Amino acid sequence: MNFHILTLFPEMIINALHTSITGRALEHGHIALQAVNIRDFSKNKHKKVDDYPYGGGAGMLMQAQPVYDAYKSVADTIPSEHKKRVIYVTPQGYPFNQEMAENFAKNDDLIFLCGHYEGIDERVLEEVVTDYVSIGDYVLTGGELAAMVMIDAIARLVPGVLHNEISAETESFHGELLEYPQYSRPEVWHNRKVPNVLLSGNQKKIEAWRLEESIKRTKERRPDLYQEYERLQRCKARLMKKKILHMDMIELINRGRAVIVLKEWDKILLKDKKTNIFYYTGDSSDLLMDLDDETRYSIEEIVLHQVDLVEEVKEILKKEDALFCYQAVYTQKERMPITGLYRADGKPTAQGLIIRPLTEEDSDKISEMYDLVDDIEYTKERILAGCMFGAFLNEEFAGCAGIHDDGSIGMLKVLEKYCKRKIGSALETYVINYALQLGWTPYAYVVVDNMISLEMQKKLGLHLSKTPIVWIA
Ligand code: ADE
Repeated sequence: MNFHILTLFPEMIINALHTSITGRALEHGHIALQAVNIRDFSKNKHKKVDDYPYGGGAGMLMQAQPVYDAYKSVADTIPSEHKKRVIYVTPQGYPFNQEMAENFAKNDDLIFLCGHYEGIDERVLEEVVTDYVSIGDYVLTGGELAAMVMIDAIARLVPGVLHNEISAETESFHGELLEYPQYSRPEVWHNRKVPNVLLSGNQKKIEAWRLEESIKRTKERRPDLYQEYERLQRCKARLMKKKILHMDMIELINRGRAVIVLKEWDKILLKDKKTNIFYYTGDSSDLLMDLDDETRYSIEEIVLHQVDLVEEVKEILKKEDALFCYQAVYTQKERMPITGLYRADGKPTAQGLIIRPLTEEDSDKISEMYDLVDDIEYTKERILAGCMFGAFLNEEFAGCAGIHDDGSIGMLKVLEKYCKRKIGSALETYVINYALQLGWTPYAYVVVDNMISLEMQKKLGLHLSKTPIVWIA
């Protein structure tokens, strides 16, 4: 991801972003940063970039020409195949939020335009800006801090920027709710004691207490979020009536990724904030017919939960591809037994097998040495997101499995020469336990004619949905 900032104060941006996590990400090349001084493009002999507004009024305006030339100096260097956005940070913009950060993070290049004085001549904005964004209902002296806030939030979503083990996808979550209070040592500080429940060792009670505290805090500090939480909980209650069939939608809600697009009794259309994939369940396709054109055209992929509606939905959304899969769900909360498969301490088994998260260093080795995975770029991205795990037999790479960007588990492959040694089961067990430890309910999509995988899911104790779901694209 390349960040370009058009500003009157480049040093402000460079100094701040070269520290801490963004600093490390710059060093490692996960992100790149260029700050361009708009003043360098002034044609005025005093390097002036501002002038009085027509029609009068307080303050000065940044003129179109230096802003445009600064923009062009950057835009002309960006390859045409790159996905890019030009963001003007302004209190007059749409409010910035996590969903926007996720969407911006999908680009190759982001150009931020930082205003000063009373703003910028509207004509250059009309010509170059794609997004108007504000970081809140207050006015700063300039756009630099706002741009930095956005860059920080976007950069941490770029694969590889956070350490594998705390990747943005697997960090702790509480859905729409605010985080519960946390405590560390000592047990008593200034006469204040850590709540007893946290010292009890009873994980169930601890989870219940945390949820209660999160709810209390959200109700008080963010009633708007709490209202959305309640709506989602009502959706979830509906979906739970066919739990296995709907586990993908339920988990979307549980993991704080779901937006309710439309809901009408048992018909529910959700969108995943992370991937923009849509999920639909309902006894008819009516709800999809009711969509406004803009939303309908924005649907690239939809997961349909009723097989009999496939043709109608394809017709409504003008789609051609349909992939039929069963959902396989691990419904227990307790970790799966690992004896005879792999060791929890990361040491090799008697057979010499280790399973561990894959790192960036593994990714080249794996893609170079093996034609193992269908989409190398995607697999590399999943490795950087901390969501891929590898099996190594006597230090030789033997196979891998992971968590897809949609949250399902999958990508299970074992090299042919290592088949029939329970490495597939070991990998899947590892990923399931990993998901459980994050508080997730593990689920996978299995293509309906993949008999080997379907058998393996059953053997491992996963439940299969009675009817398939359909990926439509
Ligand atoms: N520039 C000045 N204030 C701002 C804000 N609140 N958000 C974005 N850009 C700004």
